Formats: sequence, C-alpha cells, structure tokens
Amino acid sequence: MGDDSIHEERKEVKTNRALFISFEGIDGSGKSTQVQMLYHYLLNSGHVAHLFREPGGTAISEKIRSILLDKANTEMTPTTEVLLYYASRNQLMTEKVLPALSRGEIVLMDRFVDSSFAYQGVGRGLGKRPLNFLTKFATGGKKPELTVLVDLPLETAEDRLSNKTLDRFESESRAFKERVRQGYLYLAKREPDRYLVLDGRLPPEEIFGVIKKRMNQLLGISD
Ligand code: ADP
Ligand code: TYD
Repeated sequence: MGDDSIHEERKEVKTNRALFISFEGIDGSGKSTQVQMLYHYLLNSGHVAHLFREPGGTAISEKIRSILLDKANTEMTPTTEVLLYYASRNQLMTEKVLPALSRGEIVLMDRFVDSSFAYQGVGRGLGKRPLNFLTKFATGGKKPELTVLVDLPLETAEDRLSNKTLDRFESESRAFKERVRQGYLYLAKREPDRYLVLDGRLPPEEIFGVIKKRMNQLLGISD
C-alpha cells in the first residue's frame, strides 16, 4: 500500500484532475476491501492513482502506527493518541499526498481525518475543538472531494473480525465502537455533499457498483 511501483504498471495516463478520496468506517466494515477495488479499477482504467492507509504510508508513519495499535500500550492517554495520529498524518501529507495531488494524480485514503473525529473526538470524548485545530495545523485543512462511509451494525463487524488477532482498537468496548459508528453517521449528516454512505451488509460487488458510479461522475465519465 502506498507503493510508488504502480507507476510501472500504468497503461496510459488519463488523470488530469487531482482527486482526493477517503474511505471510512468502523473496524471490519469492509472499507479496505472497497478502497482496494477502487484502486485496481482506476489503475486498470489507466489513471495514476495512489492508495495510502492511515495511520501509515511513510516509513515514519508506519513506526507511529505500530505504537498506536500495540495492545501493550494500555496506558496511552487520549491526548497522546490524537497527537500521534496527527504526527503520522502530517508526515504522510507532506511526503506523499500533497505532492501527488499537485501532480494532478488521484489519491485514495484508507481512513483520514474523519477517523480522528469519530474515534478520538467522539469515541474518546475529546470533542471537536482540538480536532479542528489539529486538522488545520497538520493537514492545512485539506478535505477530500469524496468520503465513502461504509456503515455496518457492530455485531456484523465483530463477526467478521472474529478469527483475527485484535489490535488495541479492535479490542475496545462495544460502547466505544458504538460511539464511533454514531460519530461517523453524525459527520455524514453534517456534510451530505462530501459523504457517500453505503450499507456495508450488501455484497462487495453491489457496494462497489455505487462507488464506481460516483467515481465516474467525479471523473466526468458517463456510464
Ligand atoms: P475494514 O478495512 O473496514 O476493517 P475489511 O475490508 O478488511 O474491513 O473487511 C473485513 C472482513 O470482512 C474481511 O474478511 C473481508 O473479506 C470481509 N468483507 C468485506 N466486505 C464484505 C462484505 N460486503 N460482505 C461480507 N464480508 C465482507
Ligand atoms: P487498521 O488496522 O488500519 O484498521 P482498519 O483495517 O479497520 O482500517 O487500524 C487503524 C485503527 O486506528 C482503527 O481501529 C481506527 C484507528 N484510528 C483512529 O482511532 N484514529 C485515526 O485518526 C485513524 C486514522 C485511525
């Protein structure tokens, strides 16, 4: 992920409009599946596209990721947590995302600032104020043109993760996860033009069909 080797695979350069698109949802919602489907669709259509995951996407950000997800870090305070997410994010924006967008390329994000609003702002109860400040400070306030929220009831997401070794967030309480889900739905309601909310219980191909349609509208392609 976030691998620049995709340049070798591209067929014909088609992108002439930078697009910044994020995918959000609770753990196990199926958003990584969808963002990967979109990434391959774009590459196969000849676009220059990048896919980054948060936290992560640069050498420094991946190191920060391992601190954040380590289950042993039970003493981490919510403030430390949010600062680490934004440290990772600033590094990724500066090193990779903003340069790609300024070259007129497409950047897909498996999570972005809305994750911090939902998990740290609502889930941890830090509220909007520190998040608004950090977003401006660490990302310059750059917003995605489109944010896809794959929404799913908690129980379904938990069933899907039942065979996996859980990280620090996946091991959180149900109450925390429910606050995060509701946090996302609140964000989507406030910005209906930016958000595309999809039912994560549907089959992957069906969900992707809606995303593809919206993507083609953004690219000015009628299908
Ligand atoms: P996330 O990135 O949101 O945590 P993933 O895309 O990794 O979620 O999916 C979590 C699990 O659910 C994986 O095992 C994946 O194969 C499965 N999955 C993804 N999308 C769907 C779907 N629409 N229906 C059923 N299972 C799905
Ligand atoms: P990851 O394994 O990438 O989760 P997923 O596959 O579900 O996307 O882990 C990222 C975790 O970090 C996930 O539980 C959500 C959490 N997170 C935050 O709490 N705040 C943030 O700003 C971001 C980007 C992620």
